[in-house]
Amino acid sequence: MKILICGKGGSGKSTISVLIAKNLKTMGYKVLLVDADESNFGLYGLLGIPPSATLIENLGGKKGAKKKLVALFSNGKSPALLTDDQKWKIRDIPDESVTDANGIKLLVIGKIHNFGEGCACAMGFVSKTFLSNLDIGDDEMVIVDTEAGIEHFGRRVEEGCDMILGIADPSYESFMLVKRIEEMGKKAGVPVSFILNKVDEAVEGAMSKHINMEKVIARIPKDNSVFMDSLEGRELKTNIPEIGHICKFIEDIKKK
Ligand SMILES: Nc1ncnc2c1ncn2[C@@H]1O[C@H](COP(=O)(O)OP(=O)(O)O)[C@@H](O)[C@H]1O
Ligand SMILES: [Mg+2]
Repeated sequence: MKILICGKGGSGKSTISVLIAKNLKTMGYKVLLVDADESNFGLYGLLGIPPSATLIENLGGKKGAKKKLVALFSNGKSPALLTDDQKWKIRDIPDESVTDANGIKLLVIGKIHNFGEGCACAMGFVSKTFLSNLDIGDDEMVIVDTEAGIEHFGRRVEEGCDMILGIADPSYESFMLVKRIEEMGKKAGVPVSFILNKVDEAVEGAMSKHINMEKVIARIPKDNSVFMDSLEGRELKTNIPEIGHICKFIEDIKKK
């Protein structure tokens, strides 16, 4: 399964991505966490590891990155001979581009580092190509933490995924965005489910007027230790029962 986590900035995508990745690992899966957010640097801290080189940096920069990506997995074959449906596996990713975070593999696509360095289109192309052509084993799970908003839909990153989890926090902007995510998921032909984050009963009542509740698979309460760990840049270690339910849901879909 390749699962894309998306939603508004600050809704909890990175937090939930890490908690899901950790839970799936405990369930016995080999987990690859893909950081596809070119703007934020927080995922390393939530995993308790220092920043490392990104895939784009290891490919030698943004220029021609998509071609260089295909060449990277070409096993010595000339990239010119490769077709678009060339497949690769998690184990084919060069060691320099994956970091081990207590048994979870982290692959960071690319980050904007410098003033005036240009747009993030290369990150989008690389994410899309990497995910579309990634062949997943039965005991493997891929979690993709995306950038805020829906630009990744414009880049068709979803085509390479099996499931979209839209995170909604209690804000009007989030409600509007999850509607768009639902529509976009339909167009991409990828099933969409929602997770309500930072909610209690009263808040959920208000949210239910705006969100298709049939698609909601979990409600995660505000958790102060999660908040404090992230504030201090510490590894997330809190066990939230709802995360276990989400992982069970993912596993059930996988078995279908
Ligand atoms: N369930 C939660 N309880 C408390 N704080 C949360 C929860 N989920 C996320 N947060 C906090 O919300 C902020 C944004 O979370 P983050 O995962 O970085 O969002 P995103 O990746 O969507 O931008 C962080 O301060 C994080 O600690
Ligand atoms: Mg984030």
